[in-house]
Amino acid sequence: MKLTLSLFVLLLIFSTQATANKTIEGLIDKQCTSCHGNEIYTGANRKVKNLVQLEKQLHRCNHVIGNQMDMNTVTQLMNYLNKKYYKF
Ligand code: HEC
Repeated sequence: MKLTLSLFVLLLIFSTQATANKTIEGLIDKQCTSCHGNEIYTGANRKVKNLVQLEKQLHRCNHVIGNQMDMNTVTQLMNYLNKKYYKF
């Protein structure tokens, strides 16, 4: 019973995470690809070297799109990009 419950909780956590990633991916497709594609996060000459710079750059990019994203979304975006591309 305990095991079933833990499995259920784990499953819940994973599916929430998957939904969050889908939302973030949709956001990137919609808001970011007009200026640059995902290659900017992986290229040899990428500029961002740590989490602080990543966050600053996200605020800059958010600024040019009229601050459409709130702080929470910027943080989610930062975590997503870090996990997927930067790996600091
Ligand atoms: C209006 C154009 C524009 C939009 C829209 C935009 N960006 Fe950017 N972004 C830029 C430019 C220009 C640079 C390069 C800045 C530089 O080289 O100093 C950049 C750089 C970046 C970098 C740093 C890449 C590196 O060198 O490591 C990240 C991360 C980034 N953008 C994320 C995003 C995300 C996420 C979004 C969508 C929410 C977004 N940007 C939307 C113009 C934009």
